Amino acid sequence: MTNQLLDHTAEDTFLMCAPDHFEVSYVINPWMAGNIAHGNRSVAMQQWLALVEAMGKVATIKMMPAMPGVPDLVFTANAGVVLGNKVVLSRFRHVERQAEEVYFDAAFTAHGFEVLTLPPELPFEGAGDALMDRSENLLWFGHGHRSDIACATRLSELLDIEVQPLKLVDARFYHLDTCFCPLAGGYVMYFPEAFDADSQAHIAARVPADKRIIVSSEDALHFACNTVNSGRHIFLNQASDALVTQLQANGFVVHQTALTEFLKAGGAAKCLTLKLNEPHQGATQVAR
Ligand code: ARG
Repeated sequence: MTNQLLDHTAEDTFLMCAPDHFEVSYVINPWMAGNIAHGNRSVAMQQWLALVEAMGKVATIKMMPAMPGVPDLVFTANAGVVLGNKVVLSRFRHVERQAEEVYFDAAFTAHGFEVLTLPPELPFEGAGDALMDRSENLLWFGHGHRSDIACATRLSELLDIEVQPLKLVDARFYHLDTCFCPLAGGYVMYFPEAFDADSQAHIAARVPADKRIIVSSEDALHFACNTVNSGRHIFLNQASDALVTQLQANGFVVHQTALTEFLKAGGAAKCLTLKLNEPHQGATQVAR
């Protein structure tokens, strides 16, 4: 399996947005509580630039324009879910973020994507809640906090892909990408307690035990699951020695890059990026 990870050659492309206007100015998740006006934007900028620099060594980064009045626009993971040349645009649950939709729509159009939308009554928060498996033609879909369960069928139809819904039950892990990360080689790194029992069983049924990387609550609370994965490279805010060792044993190279300013808004590495190259694997299934 290590060799399979090392074989990765094609560069990934990620969409990011500079934190020129980033701040915590409202509370829509538990991480933001008590953090209004407690951020330091120049530290946020340094941390974001360090992530860009680290990722830029192995991947291509495309920037979208920063905009005033939408402080969470930096979290491009929430722009939509990309598959092939299609993207299903997000429709934010909270009014505080709905003004971002037009900017994300423009960014996707500028990059040549066919932009699809869900019915107006269905909240959907993009690649915050919809994550492609890395070895199966499968979209994992988190619901319970932000995205509506009814999106599962719609996403399956719009993107012609199997969707596995997972119910999120801990308010601190309000997006799927805060507690679950599919990795190259068919691994899945996740914090089981963030899911209801049925969903934990679905994960166990689909992912063999030797491919499940279970994260402790301490690591989960440091946003270790909020990982950007490109080939064998993993970029995250912070991970314990035990987790780093486990990831290395499975062939990954772990880059820890502090994103504490973004944790104040409830986000970290993965939230700050959106993978733009998500090839549709069609009928070809890669064995785990
Ligand atoms: N403050 C933002 C929100 O609550 C953070 C979004 C983090 N993004 C993510 N993909 N988890 O919506």
